[in-house]
Amino acid sequence: MSHQPASTRYDHPGLYRPCGRSGLKLPALSLGLWHNFGGADQPANSRALILRAFDLGITHFDLANNYGPPAGAAEETFGRVLREDLAAYRDELIVSTKAGYDMWPGPYGDHGSRKYLLASLDQSLRRLGLAYVDIFYSHRPDPDTPIEETMGALAHAVHGGKALYAGISNYNPEQTARAAKVLRDLGAPCLIHQPRYNLFDRWVEGGLLEVLQREGIGAIAFSPLAQGLLSNRYLTGIPADSRAGHDPRFLRPDQITEAKRGQIRALDGLARVRGQSLAQMAVAWLLRQPAVTSVLVGASKASQIEDSLGAVTNAAFSTDELVRIDRILAG
Ligand SMILES: NC(=O)c1ccc[n+]([C@@H]2O[C@H](COP(=O)([O-])OP(=O)(O)OC[C@H]3O[C@@H](n4cnc5c(N)ncnc54)[C@H](OP(=O)(O)O)[C@@H]3O)[C@@H](O)[C@H]2O)c1
Repeated sequence: MSHQPASTRYDHPGLYRPCGRSGLKLPALSLGLWHNFGGADQPANSRALILRAFDLGITHFDLANNYGPPAGAAEETFGRVLREDLAAYRDELIVSTKAGYDMWPGPYGDHGSRKYLLASLDQSLRRLGLAYVDIFYSHRPDPDTPIEETMGALAHAVHGGKALYAGISNYNPEQTARAAKVLRDLGAPCLIHQPRYNLFDRWVEGGLLEVLQREGIGAIAFSPLAQGLLSNRYLTGIPADSRAGHDPRFLRPDQITEAKRGQIRALDGLARVRGQSLAQMAVAWLLRQPAVTSVLVGASKASQIEDSLGAVTNAAFSTDELVRIDRILAG
């Protein structure tokens, strides 16, 4: 039976922030489907995560061609929920997908060629059961393809109506400035950049955020909780149902050193003083940046989405708190 969304879902209009200098607003918290939406994950839980997020006013869902495993499975999972539960709400949703990593054998299933990007977008639309996505990203820069070609493919998708906006991910400041110019010249301005950004990984502060603000491009920060490290998940051990505990493809137990755990505990102490969970403080710390439009969390449980969304009501930091955070991270 189709889902009846909560009538309260738009009770917090302050949740939506302009994406760069575009007319599009995104929720301060968005949901990513990298983990927990694959072929081996419980379909009922994946569905519950999507529907809970939507009921809370989270209108943006982020995918990529290769999310699963197997690659493509997350788009199929999301497509099923769209079809069975949210078909009547397509115009309330911002759905993004990407191409840039290995998808199929041979020279046309990876990287940044026009051939790969446009074929991949058609495949994504079939899996999602959609006529268009809202945002189509180049998932990573490709040093072997002229940036004009990769951006030309994004612009073609926009002009052809298969994507409403173009985005880039993992591009450095110089690549971003070039991509922005090419897209602007092609009449499909770059809406958004998706970089990794969290308390433990602040590379974007070395020039990217300035480029984005100058160009009027919104930033959506991925892995804001450092895949769960910046939460109460690993304070004392490695829970069996955690990412490091059961799916260590990208977060291995040996990355959770005692030194890291010491920093996590100190940050957790500071969050408690602020009256927040550590996850909430980690999200709030990103939201305080004017360049950041949205914080793109993952979740394995609906309660985690509820918790992280609580960050929005306490996103201001005193100078003293910021200094203390920097000291913990430097230690
Ligand atoms: N563009 C790119 O190259 C790229 C790369 C990576 C990710 N992304 C995007 O970013 C999204 C988010 O990435 P991510 O999953 O690494 O994000 P994350 O938010 O840093 O980590 C998510 C994990 O943190 C834990 N968690 C979340 N909320 C929690 C809470 N309130 N309390 C305690 N634990 C909590 C859960 O771990 P457990 O599973 O252990 O419960 C969850 O699976 C992806 O889904 C994808 O859309 C993009």
